[in-house]
Amino acid sequence: MLNFDGKVVLITGAKSGIGATSAELFIKQGAKVIGVDIGFAPSGYDEIDFEKNPVQVHLDVTDLKQVKEIINIVKERFNRIDVVVNSAGILTTTPILEITEEQWDRVFAINLKGTFFMCQAALKHMIEKKGGCIVNLSSVSGKIGGIMAGADYSASKAAVICLTKSFARAGAVHGIRVNCIAPAAIHTPMLEKYYKDYPEEVLKKSMESKPLKRWGEPIEVASTIVFLASREASYITGECVDVNGGMLMD
Ligand SMILES: NC(=O)c1ccc[n+]([C@@H]2O[C@H](COP(=O)([O-])OP(=O)(O)OC[C@H]3O[C@@H](n4cnc5c(N)ncnc54)[C@H](O)[C@@H]3O)[C@@H](O)[C@H]2O)c1
Repeated sequence: MLNFDGKVVLITGAKSGIGATSAELFIKQGAKVIGVDIGFAPSGYDEIDFEKNPVQVHLDVTDLKQVKEIINIVKERFNRIDVVVNSAGILTTTPILEITEEQWDRVFAINLKGTFFMCQAALKHMIEKKGGCIVNLSSVSGKIGGIMAGADYSASKAAVICLTKSFARAGAVHGIRVNCIAPAAIHTPMLEKYYKDYPEEVLKKSMESKPLKRWGEPIEVASTIVFLASREASYITGECVDVNGGMLMD
């Protein structure tokens, strides 16, 4: 079950949280992982250590040149890309009347444009190879609107659900599956950064608002990502899977 021996997996946002935990889990299941993240140390492509697992590449998902380059480099080096996980993202919590045009553009550039063009570049390659799988990260706020998350963040994550379905339709005829996940309150640096200035009772309230009475752990999202990317999920495409402790049951 969930065997990724010989498979090549590209993960964005691989330095932290859900992306980093997914990289570890894919490796445990036998995959070669190429992790890309704006937080990895910048280096020339010649200096990348492809023997490492995960391979770590500095990359900004908003830079389309870098997105196309990394797909080409991985293709050349490994002759395949079986799975792409788009986990790079930023959270905003600015009140709706205070969101600026600059912030809106930044959120959409990372959360939506970066995800779209990584999917597009991956799909082109996967069509040539007649197979592959993409998993995107949406959010519960993309379904219900932001409670603590900003309207800009929530709108970008709603759009991720829609682009996932469009890529699923385009890829299906080529045997390519595309799904996304809508987590809520997962215990990662993204959430910690947001809650660090809040008193204990606000954290407790956030946890108790979920039927399972706690936040989720990154491994609980990573295991869903690995499942969706596996042969065991071979009849699932265009789906948005909730990993939210029961916060939204739809
Ligand atoms: N943690 C949660 O509660 C939660 C809930 C719903 C959805 N999500 C989504 O899951 C995904 C992962 O979140 P996380 O909690 O692991 O966050 P995180 O902050 O721990 O990790 C996100 C990673 O994305 C990277 N990144 C940011 N901008 C980038 C860019 N321009 N190019 C490349 N990399 C970039 C960051 O450097 C970071 O390593 C995000 O898309 C997030 O919106 C998280």
